[in-house]
Amino acid sequence: MNRIIFAISLLLSIFWSNNVKASKLPADSVYLFAYATTKNDNHNGLHFAWSDDGKHWNTIGPEFAFIKSDYGAWGSEKKMFSPFLFRDKQGLWHLIWSLNQYDDVFAHAAVDDLIHWRRQSYPQAAKGLNCLMPEVFYNNKTDKYNITWLSVVDNDTICYNSTTSDFKNYTPAIQIATEKRKNLRQTFIVSGKREQGTLHKVKRAVVEKLIAEHQKTVQRNKLWSETTKDDSVRFASLKSLEIAITADAGKPKQISDKLIGVFFEDINYAADGGIYAELIENRGFEYNPSDKKGRDTTWNSLKAWSVTGNMAHRVDTVNPLHPNNPHHVVLTVNHKGGSLVNEGFNGIAVKAGEKYNFSIFANVTKGKKSHIVVRLSDSHNQTIAETTINKITSGWHQYNAILSAKTTDSHARLEIIPQTPGELALDMISLFPQKTFKGRKNGLRADLAQTIADIKPQFVRFPGGCVAHGDGLGNIYHWKNTIGPLEARKPQRNIWNYHQSAGLGYFEYFQFCEDINAEPVPIVAAGVPCQNSSCGGAGQQGGIPMCEMDNYVQDVLDLVEWANGSADTYWGHKRAEAGHPEPFNLKYIGVGNEDLITDIFEERFTMIYNALKDKHPEITVIGTVGPWFEGTDYREGWALANKLNIPMVDEHYYQSPGWFIYNQDFYDSYDRSKTKVYLGEYAAHLPGRPNNLETALAEAIYLTSLERNGDIVAMASYAPLLAKDGFTQWNPDLIYFNNSEVKPTVGYYVQKLFGNNAGNTYINSHIDLKEEYSEAVKKRIAASFVHDNKTNDLIIKLVNILPVQIKTNLNLQSLPISSSTATRTLLTGKPEDKKARPKNDMITISNNFDVELPPYSFTVIRLKMK
Ligand code: AHR
Repeated sequence: MNRIIFAISLLLSIFWSNNVKASKLPADSVYLFAYATTKNDNHNGLHFAWSDDGKHWNTIGPEFAFIKSDYGAWGSEKKMFSPFLFRDKQGLWHLIWSLNQYDDVFAHAAVDDLIHWRRQSYPQAAKGLNCLMPEVFYNNKTDKYNITWLSVVDNDTICYNSTTSDFKNYTPAIQIATEKRKNLRQTFIVSGKREQGTLHKVKRAVVEKLIAEHQKTVQRNKLWSETTKDDSVRFASLKSLEIAITADAGKPKQISDKLIGVFFEDINYAADGGIYAELIENRGFEYNPSDKKGRDTTWNSLKAWSVTGNMAHRVDTVNPLHPNNPHHVVLTVNHKGGSLVNEGFNGIAVKAGEKYNFSIFANVTKGKKSHIVVRLSDSHNQTIAETTINKITSGWHQYNAILSAKTTDSHARLEIIPQTPGELALDMISLFPQKTFKGRKNGLRADLAQTIADIKPQFVRFPGGCVAHGDGLGNIYHWKNTIGPLEARKPQRNIWNYHQSAGLGYFEYFQFCEDINAEPVPIVAAGVPCQNSSCGGAGQQGGIPMCEMDNYVQDVLDLVEWANGSADTYWGHKRAEAGHPEPFNLKYIGVGNEDLITDIFEERFTMIYNALKDKHPEITVIGTVGPWFEGTDYREGWALANKLNIPMVDEHYYQSPGWFIYNQDFYDSYDRSKTKVYLGEYAAHLPGRPNNLETALAEAIYLTSLERNGDIVAMASYAPLLAKDGFTQWNPDLIYFNNSEVKPTVGYYVQKLFGNNAGNTYINSHIDLKEEYSEAVKKRIAASFVHDNKTNDLIIKLVNILPVQIKTNLNLQSLPISSSTATRTLLTGKPEDKKARPKNDMITISNNFDVELPPYSFTVIRLKMK
């Protein structure tokens, strides 16, 4: 349906709406008008305005959203059209709205106080028809609620009706005469504009609460948007500071020894072209235009490949190497001279003196035995390395060779040069450095993997993030597709709009965890795809059909057997075949990734959770509580965690540095007796999304609060981890890289300092500021004391996000200090600095000593205890 028809239908509906004058108000009451504007392309959600006389309207906001639509993909969807607010006979408010011009669903959410909205649902309207201007009325004869709406069919506007008694189950849509529609919306002038919505009479106190909610939001947003740019004004009168920090040996508490870990997701080319050491791009010829939703015509089976000389070639799917890997290239060789060339991921980086394992699957489909020359060439066409593969026969066989690089080049290319006339089918053309991380076959890029290992992460989460639940049902990440022989793995579209070869699969993830002594934390989809899915799905977040859920649940159970079962179990055997007879000792499984907590989600999550609890009580299941630190999914997710007694939930929040500064008490009031927290994704985001000292210090100050709350916060991981220069979908990230360099950020060093200086006991301390300072000052200074029982070290972390130096007296008299020196690591610079790096020195200490905290600094002091 085109926009013109939609606009016409809207005009019609405005014409149909009742311009009824507001009727008389009871005492202590005001008029409340609920509406949405067209601003920001209808993304601004539900607004309220109030009035004493029904004529003059006061906006609460303006443009302040009390609820936003969660339906569909970010950007193109999540719009609210023609909201209709209605109060049921029990006094519960219901909001229904139209989502767009085309889908055959509408949205519903309920709320008690007009502020804390419950979960959204997207009921079916008339199948295949759009749903515009939905409205509700209560029919006291039937004791049912009637929902009516307009659908545009062949340029006609048709009215439909469905009934419900619970706003969960609806009768099938039936066509009704347009006159039967009540057209209950009203139109008023709000802020000088005609707005259409619903009129209500409410107690003045209701409106006062709405106003207070808006004011609270404005106030806190002001605080949270504070950045160092204004520090010279904000702290104009602040000279150097003097503080005393006293450690209090009384009541130390055990904290998680797994607090710092990493979040790995194949975003920003983190896997193929990133940490997965394969140097050939599109080795299986499986790139598909749909990876990029058809937006890039060069993105196909021949992406990164070219053919030189007069050699005919085609991409074929007949007689494939494996059904999961159907495409291959077929070269028709009439005479020598042509070559098949791969440019790698924007060039192949090779180093002089290093060896590279080349492998290829080939099948002579016409002609005699074939020979090929395999060559690495530089940009001047000089040979870097060369070898020959002889006696290629008919039928798919793998051939291997080693290329020894004579020179270093970051933009080499690989050439396959057939030497024999005939027809040759080729697939899975691969080149790996022999020097992978820990020398693993099909392994990881050593420099990148080592940079991650240097954090000393206690766990690795994978494969996402959104990659875990995918863009629509067809794109959910299924771990079984990622194990076994490479040619049999099932590549798929990456939700971040590129390609996943699955070469880096579950075996490789688990092996990496083992290699760096980190717990594997796989995240499986909770039977629903990404909350922002733009592909398929029934409504916003269609789940796996219930008739397929048993199989899906079994897949999750099989993961435990694959990871932990003995080699004679079915799945344990597969792990052993891959080279790991010993179990991986999996302890955690995350189910879901910041999903919308809907009924669809709950039903499927509960099935998976109960099955895991039942069959594998040894596994700690990690639930999910949505993408924010508050709001409907956070509340509903926590309610579900309490209901099911989930051992741990995954919280996510990307917020401003100010948020992290002013929310250091976020976990102080969490109930210690219940579900633990995995802060699975967080990062400080400034406008422009840099990773600089300002964001790093905000993360550092917050991490001190996570250490203090390490009895409830079990794990935390900054996100995302990796980003390839020129191929990023998301900023900031922790480690940037290109084909030959690794470029850790300032934030990386904060993670590394916390990872390398973790403790398992938290020791209380308090900060005394000698004079009365503002909250803004107090919140920018933090200290954390932990003890590491493996080394018997005391580790003191001190953060100063003020523009002035802080002279600090450290009083450790209550602690048994054994040494007179300590190592100090200092990370400091200008807030906008992206190149700040930690520096180490030794300092003299006693049980009461002074230390200077430079402006904008993070200091770690490590010393021995008796
Ligand atoms: O970290 C990047 C993305 O942020 C993750 O994929 C998703 O879970 C979150 O929205």
